[in-house]
Amino acid sequence: MSEKIIEVKHMTKIYNPETRHATTALHDISLVVKKGEFVCIMGTSGSGKTTLLNNLSTIDTPTKGEVYINGKNVNHMSESDLCKFRTNVLGFIFQNYNVIDTLTIYENIRIPLLIKKETDFDEKIDRILKQLDIEEIKNKYPYECSGGQVQRVAIARALVSEPSIIVADEPTGNLDSHNSFELLELLKKLNQEGISILMVTHDSFVASYSSKLLFLKDGEISDIIERENMSQNEYYDTIESMNLLEIKKIYFDKKNEVN
Ligand SMILES: Nc1ncnc2c1ncn2[C@@H]1O[C@H](COP(=O)(O)OP(=O)(O)O)[C@@H](O)[C@H]1O
Ligand SMILES: [Mg+2]
Repeated sequence: MSEKIIEVKHMTKIYNPETRHATTALHDISLVVKKGEFVCIMGTSGSGKTTLLNNLSTIDTPTKGEVYINGKNVNHMSESDLCKFRTNVLGFIFQNYNVIDTLTIYENIRIPLLIKKETDFDEKIDRILKQLDIEEIKNKYPYECSGGQVQRVAIARALVSEPSIIVADEPTGNLDSHNSFELLELLKKLNQEGISILMVTHDSFVASYSSKLLFLKDGEISDIIERENMSQNEYYDTIESMNLLEIKKIYFDKKNEVN
């Protein structure tokens, strides 16, 4: 039996609870990510994808429910333990990159290694710069680089500390098709080496790299598909037809609201 690397039990997230602006972004979500799985999350804009990633990866705290990572209940960890845990176990690729504008590309990528108190990092950084084809910008500042390059810097920073779980929010969103393909192939390779991946996307091709796919709708898991022994092409077709079904449902829901 493969081990559970992430387990979420009955997670609910309400923004601004007990106010007029209360928004229930997630409602009673339970899920398990096993070691070595590549899980994707799809859903329309506002369905709660980013909220789900943030709340299961210790960036934000759920209103209700529990999160276990490697069997540890993160709700019970101290802030300093959480900080260590984030840098040792998790590699984040955020939707808006979160690179630091006053640091060079090299310095941005070095951050997780400094937090981990590693001293011998030049070789590691050089390897990742080469892997993501950003060697020539290592001494530049983010504002001197293109959007695609900055996105690759964010990816390099997530990977340099050799995390056991990669958490990524639409990481191919601003990449051209060549760079998206390169990133997906890199993630596939890392996954084959045993790293678990949890990734949000709204692109069926990107999702076809996953081993399991969760559909979110209005803060709830509406469907789950597993790739099992489908070829990537068959899996892609299944995802596309599922997407079409979701779009139809939304369309008819809206139409019924109007009528
Ligand atoms: N910081 C926040 N404060 C209040 N509401 C939020 C906040 N972040 C997200 N929301 C709301 O929660 C819902 C889910 O948002 P989000 O998780 O960003 O969706 P997605 O990533 O799928 O587009 C939306 O209705 C959004 O408006
Ligand atoms: Mg989002």
